[in-house]
Amino acid sequence: MMVHKNIYPEFKKMLSAMEKERGFRQKGFAIWLYGLSGSGKSTIANALERRLYTKKIHTKLLDGDNIRVGLNKDLGFSEKDRSENIRRVAEVTKLFVDNATICIISLITPKRSLRSLATQIIGKEKILWVYVKASYQTCAERDVKGLYAKSKSGKISQFTGKDAPFEEPKEDDQVLILETEKASLEICVDKIEDFLNKKIFHS
Ligand code: ADX
Repeated sequence: MMVHKNIYPEFKKMLSAMEKERGFRQKGFAIWLYGLSGSGKSTIANALERRLYTKKIHTKLLDGDNIRVGLNKDLGFSEKDRSENIRRVAEVTKLFVDNATICIISLITPKRSLRSLATQIIGKEKILWVYVKASYQTCAERDVKGLYAKSKSGKISQFTGKDAPFEEPKEDDQVLILETEKASLEICVDKIEDFLNKKIFHS
């Protein structure tokens, strides 16, 4: 671990996350959507944020493509860069969660090790993992951004699901699975909202 010389983090003086949660009557929590490009993560994330907004719930959406033109514009798609991408987004998520905010994250997050890294940073009790499931074939047919075609013709490398790995969740992983080939957008959003209602808002 890196030694931080001459740095004196001061957390005790700060208004605590618990005090904020009490004051704002809202708990901080992370809903982290992962899955292949084109699986429907961003669509679900945006619809969820709008749904919660109508209920006056304070949220922040962190979306991979947006983050990669700002905070993480120095990162590419190598294993090392994807890991740094996830680490930074997890640290930012933690800031929002500690600020009594529901943080919605939409990133491919292709490997189980990356998902554990994010869980470690945010805290197991503060995150719901949501696997937005659609087959490579379906995503390639949808090809909203034209990236599957580019990957096929070799114009893009390290493409997730083709020449870079994507690891599905294992049986005993705690994860909500949303199958976008079968369920409507509304049903997908309902499922996340149900979870929040049962486990976060009314607990
Ligand atoms: S992650 O693997 O590090 O979690 P992230 O979600 O931030 O990925 O970024 C994925 C987005 O970057 C995709 O939705 C797509 O628009 C774009 N992209 C560009 N190149 C690639 C690539 N080689 N593999 C996957 N996505 C890519």
